[in-house]
Amino acid sequence: MRGLLITIEGMDGSGKTTQIGLMKAFLEGNNYKVLMTREPGGTVIGEKIRELILDKEHQEMSFIAEALLYSASRAQLVSQVIKPALSRGEIVICDRFVDSSLVYQGKGRGLGYDEVKKINDFATQGLEPDLTLLFNIDPEESLKRISVRGKEDRLEQEKLPFHQQVHSAYKDLAAMFSDRIIVINAGQPIETIQKEIEDILMSLLEEGDYNEVSNCNCP
Ligand code: TYD
Repeated sequence: MRGLLITIEGMDGSGKTTQIGLMKAFLEGNNYKVLMTREPGGTVIGEKIRELILDKEHQEMSFIAEALLYSASRAQLVSQVIKPALSRGEIVICDRFVDSSLVYQGKGRGLGYDEVKKINDFATQGLEPDLTLLFNIDPEESLKRISVRGKEDRLEQEKLPFHQQVHSAYKDLAAMFSDRIIVINAGQPIETIQKEIEDILMSLLEEGDYNEVSNCNCP
């Protein structure tokens, strides 16, 4: 039995968290078993790595060390949480995954997509999402929302040019992986986005035989 891996991507402040909560409620309301997790983090080891990466004191962290730490957290999450849940037939919703490393480290930090993809293929043992929802907002709007929230982390405190790079990288990925990435206009009202996502989920679930094997109403 194989579940589904749905990843959520987008710039900081794009409203991912709100929609992830709504998605979980929608899927559970339709009797699917859902596991929600996030990156970096999602395991005891991963949360420690998260603190290490995002700590504003760690200004000296090399970009390569940063990329390896994100992928180390991801390796732990994949083997401890995601793979077991998928083999139980569950729907895994992951707040950020490899695409985040491709855009933030590959393009934002200038390490290159190919290099970052290589270390991540190793970390994830080649696991790819079935669907990725990419929440698109302008970098200017993203920065505005982050600053309203206050308490920026080490990545969030980067200036506009960095966030512009990240934004353009997400655009690259949407073109490169158009078979699995769906771009959501995150500037719309919450209810509009929610409805759009629910329609996407319904058509994904109706595809193939996922419904038959994984609906948790099954004996
Ligand atoms: P996130 O948990 O989404 O931030 P928050 O919950 O505070 O909104 O991600 C933390 C930061 O880490 C975010 O700025 C994006 C960055 N990030 C990377 O640079 N590379 C990665 O691989 C991941 C997963 C996140």
